[in-house]
Amino acid sequence: MTKRDRTLGSERLFSLQGKSALVTGGSSGLGFMMAEALLRNGVRVYIASRSTERCRAAAQSLAAAGDCVAIAADVNDAQQRQALVTELTSREPGGLSILVNNAGSNWGAALADYPDAAFDKVMRTNVSSVFALTRDLIPLLQRAARPDDPARIINIGSMDGLQVPVVQRVPTFAYSASKAALHHLTRTLAVELGPQHITVNAIAPGFFESKMTDHVLAHYRQDIEDDCPLGRIGSAEDIAGVLIYLASRAGAYVNGTVIPVDGGTSIGKGKRDRSAP
Ligand SMILES: NC(=O)c1ccc[n+]([C@@H]2O[C@H](COP(=O)([O-])OP(=O)(O)OC[C@H]3O[C@@H](n4cnc5c(N)ncnc54)[C@H](OP(=O)(O)O)[C@@H]3O)[C@@H](O)[C@H]2O)c1
Repeated sequence: MTKRDRTLGSERLFSLQGKSALVTGGSSGLGFMMAEALLRNGVRVYIASRSTERCRAAAQSLAAAGDCVAIAADVNDAQQRQALVTELTSREPGGLSILVNNAGSNWGAALADYPDAAFDKVMRTNVSSVFALTRDLIPLLQRAARPDDPARIINIGSMDGLQVPVVQRVPTFAYSASKAALHHLTRTLAVELGPQHITVNAIAPGFFESKMTDHVLAHYRQDIEDDCPLGRIGSAEDIAGVLIYLASRAGAYVNGTVIPVDGGTSIGKGKRDRSAP
């Protein structure tokens, strides 16, 4: 075997063996899919969500895939965030390799009825709390950061932060604004943290099955699939592939990007666009 075989073979390029990760909102939907993908690739995974019961139940079902620990925490609560950081620091004294800021919330209402409190909560969960948790975890990420293997921050944005949302029947003003803000925060943090060997990237998913998309998929799935050039919603493998790429050696030089994982929906030209009169 040559040196190039060893460095460019997919086994080494995409290996995550021995790393540690926190996935916020890992108890359901995309967070659960990503936690499982990391576990199946040898990562020690911590999942955090508000409900102790749901978080524990998810960690129990993920235990078949690897070493998973549930830490209940509301990312919008400063004290609970601090307790999460303290617990992670004591469990991973060598540092945290991967932070997946996935916990998110949404609110749909017509413009005239859109409540101030809902707008604030969505912005808080999807932007302010991502910023605060990231800031507080920097010391732990620094411990794992290496010039040839940076620590990784992966923010879960949305295709709705790249374009005006497709499903106009359920207007989500705060959500799309929050995800656009998160994409830009990703770029700002990438410039700030790059010199410390910490990369910051975002994934902008299209539609995947989850609690958040239950209602919309139940009512508009055909439209959603027609709006996608690939004609389908995303699967666990689709999100896992990009996550593993960003978290492994393969993605070590990628910094400050927003990667759409939406089958091309955000650039348009789905069946509905093409069949317009
Ligand atoms: N599914 C999609 O099609 C899609 C598309 C684009 C982007 N996204 C993004 O993907 C992320 C995950 O969403 P999902 O669709 O998988 O929704 P989901 O099934 O509703 O999952 C949301 C997760 O976040 C947790 N969570 C919510 N608020 C929290 C808080 N304040 N503190 C801690 N945990 C909290 C929830 O658990 P608890 O209720 O126990 O807190 C749950 O584990 C979100 O950022 C969402 O915007 C999803």
